[in-house]
Amino acid sequence: MNTIRGRLTFWYTVALTATVLVFGTALYLERRQSSVRELDQRLALEADFARRWINESYNVLSTLVRPNDPRELQQGVAANFEGVRDLLLVFDRQGRTLYINDPVRQLNFAAIERLAALPGPAPVVGVTGTAVLPGNEPPMRYAQLPVDGAGTEVGAVVVAARLSAVAFGPADLLQSMVLVVPLILVASGVLGWFLAGRAMRPVERLMDEVQEVTDGRSLHRRVLVPTSGDELARLAVTLNEMFARLEQSFSQLRRFTADASHELKTPLTVLRAGVERSLIHPGTPPEVLEALDTNLEQLNKLNELMDSLLTLARADEGRAPLALEEADLRALVVDVGETAEMLAEQHDLRMRVAVPEHPVQVLVDSHRMHQLLLNLVTNAVKYTPAGGWVEVLLEEEGEKVRLVVRDSGIGIASVDLPHIFDRFWRADPARSRTGDRPGVGLGLAITKWIAEAHGGTISVQSRPGRGSSFVVTLPRAGAGGPAAGA
Ligand SMILES: Nc1ncnc2c1ncn2[C@@H]1O[C@H](COP(=O)(O)OP(=O)(O)OP(=O)(O)O)[C@@H](O)[C@H]1O
Ligand SMILES: [Mg+2]
Repeated sequence: MNTIRGRLTFWYTVALTATVLVFGTALYLERRQSSVRELDQRLALEADFARRWINESYNVLSTLVRPNDPRELQQGVAANFEGVRDLLLVFDRQGRTLYINDPVRQLNFAAIERLAALPGPAPVVGVTGTAVLPGNEPPMRYAQLPVDGAGTEVGAVVVAARLSAVAFGPADLLQSMVLVVPLILVASGVLGWFLAGRAMRPVERLMDEVQEVTDGRSLHRRVLVPTSGDELARLAVTLNEMFARLEQSFSQLRRFTADASHELKTPLTVLRAGVERSLIHPGTPPEVLEALDTNLEQLNKLNELMDSLLTLARADEGRAPLALEEADLRALVVDVGETAEMLAEQHDLRMRVAVPEHPVQVLVDSHRMHQLLLNLVTNAVKYTPAGGWVEVLLEEEGEKVRLVVRDSGIGIASVDLPHIFDRFWRADPARSRTGDRPGVGLGLAITKWIAEAHGGTISVQSRPGRGSSFVVTLPRAGAGGPAAGA
C-alpha cells in the first residue's frame, strides 16, 4: 500500500463498507421496530373486535357463560372467535379463562398456563407487552383489553402472536445484507481504484514533467499549469517559480565561473611571459633559474586548469559552439597516436594504434575530438605502470563509429566508476595509487561533454589491476546528428 492510489482505494472501500453497515443496521433496527408496531396495532384491533363482539352478544343474550365447571363461553359466542388467526383468550372477572381458541390449544400446557396467568383478576386498563413462554416457544407479543360492557361474567380478552412471525422480514434483510456486503466490498474496491487513478492522473503527469528536469541544463523547462485552478495548479505554479529561481542561480554561478576563469587568464599570460623572459635572461643566477622553472611549471598547470574551467563553464552556458565539419577520423586517431607513442615511450609502455583501411568520414569538431582522444590517451598512459600496454582503436559499427582507448593499467574500483566523469573527481590516492600522478580531475568531465555534444556517448569498463577500456560511440555524419552548439 505504498501508493496514494492504493491508500485512497483502501480508505474509500473501508468508508463505503462502514456506511453500508451502519445504514443496514439502522434500517434493520427500524424495520424491526415498525414491524412490532404493526403487530401491536393488529393485536389491538383484534382485541377490540373481540371485546365489542362480547359486549354486543351480552346485550342480545344477557348471559354469555355456560354455568358448567369449569365455566366456558357459550358455543354461539365462541364460534365467532374461531376465525381469529392469532391466539385469543377470554377471561372472567377473577382472571380465570373462559375461552381459548385453536392456536392456543396447540401450545404446550406450561405455555398455556403462562398465557392464562397474564391478566390477573379484574384488570382495568389495556396492556401491551412481550411474554416469554416456557419450553422452546418463541416470545409472544400480546395485547390485553378489559371488557366492561358484559356484566360481571367477562373480565378481559388477550390476543397474542409470536414475535418470530414479524421478525421474518428484518431477518431476511439481515441475510441479504450478509450476502451483499462482500459484493459491495469488491465493487467499491474496483470503483475506488478507478476513481483514485483518475484523481491521481494530473499528479502523475506533473511528476513526469518534473522528472524531465534532470540537471542544471534542463532548468529552462516548465511544467504545464492545469487550467483547473485547484491545488495542483498552485503546485505547478510554485514549481515553475522554483525552477525559475534555480535557473537564475545556476546561470549566475556559471557566469561567475566563466568570468573568473576568463579574467584570470590575462594576468596568467602576462605572468608566464615574465617568467619565460627571466628564464632566458643571461644574468639570472642558477639558483633563481631553478625556482623560475618550478614557477613556470605551476603556471602552465594553472593555465590548463583555467582552460578546462572555461571550457566547462561555457559548455554549461551553451556558449561553446562546435565547429562541425566532415573529417576522416583516421587522421585524427593517427595524429593523437603519434603523441601517444612519444608518451608511451617515456613511460616504457607498448602502444598500438589500429584504424580501418578506408576513410571514416564523420561530422565533428576536429579540435574538440582531438582533445577528447588526447584526454583518454593521457589517462591511459598516466594510469598504466611501466611495462604495460595501451591501445587506441577506431572501429565502425553500422551507423555508429567507435573510438576505443584500452590499457592494462591500475584500473578503477567499481564503487568509483559512477564518479569518474564528475568534475574534480579523482580516485582515492590511497586505494588506487593516483597520488603521484598529476591532474585535477576535469579531463573526463570535458571528454564526456565533448562526446555528448556530438550526439554520442561514452562508457567505461574497468577492473582494479586489470586495466580499463573507454569507448566513445559517435553517430556517423548525418546519422542522428550531433547536438551542435550544445
Ligand atoms: N585509464 C584509467 N585508468 C585508471 N584510472 C583512471 C583512468 N582514467 C581515469 N581514471 C581515474 O579517473 C579519475 C578522473 O580522470 P580525469 O581524467 O577526469 O582526471 P585526472 O586525469 O585525474 O586529471 P586531469 O584533469 O588532469 O585529466 C582519475 O583521477 C583516475 O582516478
Ligand atoms: Mg585525465
